[in-house]
Formats: sequence, structure tokens, C-alpha cells
Amino acid sequence: MRILLTGGCGFIGSQFARMALDAGHEVVNLDKLTYAGNPANTADISGHRRYRFVQADIADPGPVADAVAGCDLVVNMAAETHVDRSILEPHLFPMTDVVGTAVLLDAARRAGVGRFVQVSTDEVYGSIPRGAFRETDPVTPSSPYSASKAGGDLQVLAWHRTYAMDVIITRGSNTFGPRQYPEKLIPLFVTNALDGRELPVYGDGLQVRDWIHVADHCAGIMAAAERGTAGEVYNVGGGHEATNLHITERILALTGRDRSLIRHVADRPGHDRRYALDTTKLRGLGWAPARPFDESLAETVRWYADNRAWWEPIKSGEYRAYYEAQYGRRGAAAGGTPAS
Ligand code: NAD
Ligand code: TYD
Repeated sequence: MRILLTGGCGFIGSQFARMALDAGHEVVNLDKLTYAGNPANTADISGHRRYRFVQADIADPGPVADAVAGCDLVVNMAAETHVDRSILEPHLFPMTDVVGTAVLLDAARRAGVGRFVQVSTDEVYGSIPRGAFRETDPVTPSSPYSASKAGGDLQVLAWHRTYAMDVIITRGSNTFGPRQYPEKLIPLFVTNALDGRELPVYGDGLQVRDWIHVADHCAGIMAAAERGTAGEVYNVGGGHEATNLHITERILALTGRDRSLIRHVADRPGHDRRYALDTTKLRGLGWAPARPFDESLAETVRWYADNRAWWEPIKSGEYRAYYEAQYGRRGAAAGGTPAS
């Protein structure tokens, strides 16, 4: 297949591109290269004969129409992805996550693309105190990020109903692994711990997330793309639930640091308490997560320890202003000095 992959210079997208090339597909990677898009993530495949990179915005119809021509499959991963940034700058999110999705959908429809896969998130369901979300549950997003992703999902379903377009939505759980931008919990805490810096835990740290390794997430997206039924949603969850404090303690142990680095800071507004996914439907297509959590986390910590050249430039650039805006405020609100 020739796959138009969007957001392929990001964390999950770059892993997906590698996996698709290994499986023999052709990959056209359309990425705007926002702060989260990093050409270093695809450096190892940039010279591959079945790989092509296009720098463009998914909300820009011209380059999107050019890139989609001749493609069999679209996998839309391009998005603004960070909840905390969405709370600081909410207006930025619908432009890519809703409008961009609509532009891409329409270009794919006009080009007669065989299938459109929307890579979405469990966060569209909102928080669940017990049990696990099924694909038939309603979307009740809490943050500007998850509301924008839910808006994208609704566009995709509308294209299915209105134009009979072949679409699939995958809703993945919290993902971790190498090359994740150090603003999300695991890469932020690992890189801070490696540097002996504080780990800013929001509120009591007892919020629960369902963790999945990036390779398992990509395999789930591919399984749904290849074997899923048109118009359906598939949950892609790792089935490994943990509190943020548990993750924090594992990271401290793996980096040889102690609990004195933990700093409880002001909670995230609208913070979802727990996410959990029922993945029976995707397992019915023959997929199951294969990476044990503890070993994968240890391997991820080793990757960050061995690849300072990947994250140190990120953390010394404009990231510092972001960090101050995000955490300076939080530390003060928690009644202490800001986490560094
Ligand atoms: P990321 O933030 O690492 O990368 C996003 C990529 O999209 C970047 O390369 C960026 O340059 C690109 N991009 C952003 N806006 C764009 C635009 N307008 N046009 C073209 N490219 C644009 O994200 P990620 O963590 O790899 O997430 C990928 C997808 O998976 C997203 O759709 C996200 O919502 C979804 N998802 C992520 C997680 C997670 O835990 N990371 C979990 C579930 C679902
Ligand atoms: P995050 O990685 O931002 O993913 P999401 O909000 O999409 O689940 O956060 C994961 C959890 O970790 C979430 O409950 C918020 C919490 N968290 C902290 O406690 N401190 C932090 O500095 C960050 C970034 C997240």
C-alpha cells in the first residue's frame, strides 16, 4: 500500500512509519514540524526508497490534495497532543485536530482513497471511576485537547455517514517509549530524574492511566487499518493501569534517585481521574499488546539515558519558556518554589 501518514515526525508517527516500511509499504509522511515534530525522529528512514517527506499543514488543502493523490490509505496522526498546552492555549487545538481532520478527510474522499484511519485517544470518553470504556460509550471529553480530538472523531464518522467513506477510528491509551517529547509524564519525569530535577506530580498523584508501549499501539492501529470494519471504532489499550505516583516511583528506582525529588504541585484543572479501555473488539481482530510494562519502562529509561543528544537540545530551547509558564505557576499555587 501507499500510505499517507500525517504527523510522522512525532512520537507515535515516526514509530508507525518505521513499522509500515518494514512491512513493505510505501510511506508519504506529511508533517508541519510543529514544536513536537522532530526530523531526528525519522533520520534513520529519511533515505529509504519507499519513504517521502512533505512539510505541510493538514489544514492546508493544496499540499494535502497533492500528497494524498495515489494513496491507498490515510493514517491521520497529526495533532496538537498535549493536555496542559491545551489548557494554556486552547484556541490552537481545533485548527489542527478538527479543521485539519476535515480538510484531510475531504482530500482523501476526492482522491478516492480506499480507507481513512483516524488515530484518536481514550481521552474522548472522559473519566471512568470503575470498569472500562467500550467503543459504544458516548464521548464526554474534559479538556480542550480531548474535546478537539472528539470533534475530529465526529468529523470522521460524518464522512462515513454522508459520503459512505471507508473510515476507522482507533482510540489509544497513554503511550510511552523512545522519542516522546519531554512534556508528557514519562519522558518529562525520566529526563528530570536523570538530571536530578524535581518531578512535579499534579495533586495527590493517584490519578490512573492505562499504559501501552508505542510498538503495541502502532501494531493495534495497523491491525484496525488492515482488518477493521468500515465505520467502526477500535480501542487500543495496554491494559496496564497504574497511578501516576506508582509510575513516578518506578522512574525514581530506574534512575537511581530517591523520593526527595517528588514535588506535589497544583492539580491540572478538569483533571480526569481514571482512564481504562475495554479492548475486546480489537483483540477480536487478532491483536494483543505484547510488551510487558516493567521491562518496557526500563528499556525506555535506558533509551533516554543513552540519547541525551536527542532531548537535551529540546529542553534547552523554547521549551524553557513553556516549562516556566506551565510549572512556575503550579509551584507557586502549591505554596512552594517552582519545580526546576
Ligand atoms: P506528537 O505530539 O509527538 O506528534 C504530533 C506530530 O503532528 C508532530 O510531528 C507535529 O509536527 C505534527 N503536527 C501537528 N500539527 C500538525 C498539522 N497541523 N499538520 C501537520 N502535522 C502536524 O504526538 P503523538 O504523541 O505521536 O500522537 C500522535 C497521535 O496519536 C495524535 O493524534 C494523538 O492524539 C494520538 N494519541 C496519542 C497518545 C499518546 O499518549 N501520545 C495516546 C493516544 C492517542
Ligand atoms: P500526560 O502524559 O500529560 O498524559 P494525559 O494527560 O494525556 O493522560 O499526563 C499523564 C498523567 O500524569 C496525567 O494524570 C497528568 C499527570 N502529570 C503530572 O502529574 N505531572 C506532570 O508534569 C505531567 C506532564 C503529567
